[in-house]
Amino acid sequence: MIVLKSERELEIMRKAGAITAKILHEVAEAVRPGIRTLDLDILASELATKYGAKAAFKGYHGYPASICVSVDEEVVHGIPGERVLREGQLVSLDFGVLYNGYYGDSAITVPVGEVSDEAKRLIEVTRTALEKGIEQAVVGRRLSDISHAIQTYVEANGFAVVRDYVGHGIGRQMHEAPPVPNFGLPDRGPRLKEGMTLAIEPMVNVSTWEVEVLADGWTVVTKDRSLSAHFEHTVAILDGGPEILTLME
Ligand code: MF3
Ligand code: CO
Repeated sequence: MIVLKSERELEIMRKAGAITAKILHEVAEAVRPGIRTLDLDILASELATKYGAKAAFKGYHGYPASICVSVDEEVVHGIPGERVLREGQLVSLDFGVLYNGYYGDSAITVPVGEVSDEAKRLIEVTRTALEKGIEQAVVGRRLSDISHAIQTYVEANGFAVVRDYVGHGIGRQMHEAPPVPNFGLPDRGPRLKEGMTLAIEPMVNVSTWEVEVLADGWTVVTKDRSLSAHFEHTVAILDGGPEILTLME
């Protein structure tokens, strides 16, 4: 069942989203050669406390950190630790909060210093793929119109979308119905309604869409170890059009 949110609930989700966005961008600003991924986790955790929110991922199905930090061929769910970032790497940061009973969830991919042209293009294509998906998050369209727009844009640019992990409804739970795939035929699935809130999150790989999970049980990597990028926004579907809740205030 897809839970529709009232205006009162959306007000709280706007705040949750704004806090998520602010923290994510502050952490992104800290990304530079020489920093440990653990330092990014500590920063995210401190900022959550500072803004009166709870880091949503910590303890979720046993996830051990406050933020996911996925480097280069890591797609999602990279665990922060002693690893030191180096110039030329590409870092996906995925972060969410629980605020006043509601979740915000967002992800961005940023370069560490100067990166290859291919890495830059991957970041831009993935960011734009998310925009293409959000453009379809319109009352009266169907869920898979979002999925199809993302896949079409990514593949037209020669990259591949991950199949095994998808976006999701979000609200009182971090993961609610419906699943939001980043691939598929258009005009399928539930019709989009005012008050739906979706986390749309394309994960895009340079070559194959296939992924595997490392022995730590969390880190998802591309099967061929090619680069991967990830962008995510929490979006409300409203009569006036999609509203991105995880933008900086
Ligand atoms: N942002 C992720 C998602 O959209 C959640 C991270 S999984 C966790 O599903 F276990 F780290 F929380
Ligand atoms: Co998500």
